Amino acid sequence: MDEVQQGIGVIDSGVGGLTVAYELMRQLPNEKIIYLGDTLRCPYGSRSKEEVQAFTKEMVDFLLEKELKMVVIACNTATAYALEMLRKQLSIPVLGVIKPGSRAAIKASRNNHIGIIGTEGTVASEAYPKALHSIKEQVNAQSLACPLFVPMVEKGITDGEQADQLIEETLIPFKNTFSMDTLILGCTHYPLLETTIQKVLGEEISIISSSEETAREASMLLEFFDGLRTEPRESEHEFYATGDVDVFRKIAEKIFNEEIVHLEKVTMEKATI
Ligand code: DGL
Repeated sequence: MDEVQQGIGVIDSGVGGLTVAYELMRQLPNEKIIYLGDTLRCPYGSRSKEEVQAFTKEMVDFLLEKELKMVVIACNTATAYALEMLRKQLSIPVLGVIKPGSRAAIKASRNNHIGIIGTEGTVASEAYPKALHSIKEQVNAQSLACPLFVPMVEKGITDGEQADQLIEETLIPFKNTFSMDTLILGCTHYPLLETTIQKVLGEEISIISSSEETAREASMLLEFFDGLRTEPRESEHEFYATGDVDVFRKIAEKIFNEEIVHLEKVTMEKATI
């Protein structure tokens, strides 16, 4: 297949990467997205680096059989642990979400105090403080792991009393001890909680989700390599999930506000929970 016609592969541990897929679809409407969410083995955030690397590689290998011109690792945990490894192994561009999110936060912050919330893995890797400091040394970055957010989102709970309570209990103490003016949602599941997070923290804090910036980078990169499709795509986007496809469909259709035509359940060989 002509390279320009090939798809953009997007992976996440679950439904979180759909927030990145949504932005890719919005900014690059001619492109075909092939998405794999490892919902059966989600969350990745509490797994070891080796495990996240092995699972991520397995997912990318699955997608590579579909003919891709680019891979987007729409998961901060997998970006933190596996991006460099994949860049060395693959001959097509591989994009993560951490650098784009960091750039957007630096652009938004006025007082250089940037908070980061993410999974235990992303926070332990210090990938965000490193990325922020590599762009701007003066940034004061503080991180907080929020391990209870992802399991709640994977159940489809993104607002209401339970979400309000958990977000308040987790984020208010953080806000009270750190004078951030900008908060990075350092997990692609968290944009699904953005309305509640903004309500709890107040309008004075800018909330940054890396999805928009990541899609912009994907667009720039494809343009640079002459890989952008100029004609509308001829086939439907493809979605694959390793766990319950009914829950996946419900969440995806809520994010995209349209029906998902092609959704399949798949099994990863090494799947262990
Ligand atoms: N959505 C993912 C992230 O951006 C991972 C969540 C998880 O599996 O723990 O980190």
